[in-house]
Amino acid sequence: MRFALFICVVLGTFLSERLNEAVIFKFTNFECGTYNESWFVFHNCRLKAVGRNKVLLNMNGTILHPAHHIVMHYKVFKKESGYKPWLLENQIDACRFMRNKKDPVGNILHSLFKDFSNINHTCPYMGPQILKDFYLRHELLILPFPTGDYLLSLRWHFDRKLQFDTNVSFVFVEDLVKRQP
Ligand SMILES: *[C@@H]1O[C@H](CO)[C@@H](O)[C@H](O)[C@H]1NC(C)=O
Ligand SMILES: *[C@@H]1O[C@H](CO)[C@@H](O)[C@H](O)[C@H]1NC(C)=O
Ligand SMILES: *[C@@H]1O[C@H](CO)[C@@H](O)[C@H](O)[C@H]1NC(C)=O
Ligand SMILES: *[C@@H]1O[C@H](CO)[C@@H](O)[C@H](O)[C@H]1NC(C)=O
Repeated sequence: MRFALFICVVLGTFLSERLNEAVIFKFTNFECGTYNESWFVFHNCRLKAVGRNKVLLNMNGTILHPAHHIVMHYKVFKKESGYKPWLLENQIDACRFMRNKKDPVGNILHSLFKDFSNINHTCPYMGPQILKDFYLRHELLILPFPTGDYLLSLRWHFDRKLQFDTNVSFVFVEDLVKRQP
């Protein structure tokens, strides 16, 4: 009996320590750059750490002429002593996606940023493009994800020509609790 209690206490302590070991999912870097200052300009692109595991991303850019045809090319790299060749590469027709929300990767990205942004309407896009105090929430990830450092490179094309990049790096540390049987 006493032994069983002891086991419970030890196991309980162990499990509660594990429970405190929350998932880490946060930005580690943000690079943005325009290739055509007569169509897209950036005013700021910045990360700010507000806690050990919470980093806010702020972006302010302007589209100077209406954009009716927008395609986002994405590549995901995983860092292992330097970024390895990409894991995933594809493109999304952003105007079509904003009408029908039919792309699994698009849906994950959209669910992550939509509450922090004015970039949540259908085409055309014009004027200020804002991401304000955007941070990553692991609850919204519907796919299992291996622990690691990643780079997500987003390259934006208007009328089939590259206009600007928004490249974000992030770290993901998987939830050990979910791994318990
Ligand atoms: C974004 O990432 C791509 C790799 O897909 C790289 O070629 C490009 O230079 C990067 N852009 C910026 C602004 O860092
Ligand atoms: C740059 O932007 C202008 C619109 O301001 C557009 O007419 C032109 O085609 C763009 N150039 C490239 C190379 O995308
Ligand atoms: C974005 O930058 C422009 C130009 O500097 C500025 O006028 C505007 O107030 C900024 N918007 C936000 C939300 O910070
Ligand atoms: C876009 O975001 C704003 C602010 O969160 C929200 O009020 C609005 O309903 C959103 N629009 C769409 C089309 O999701």
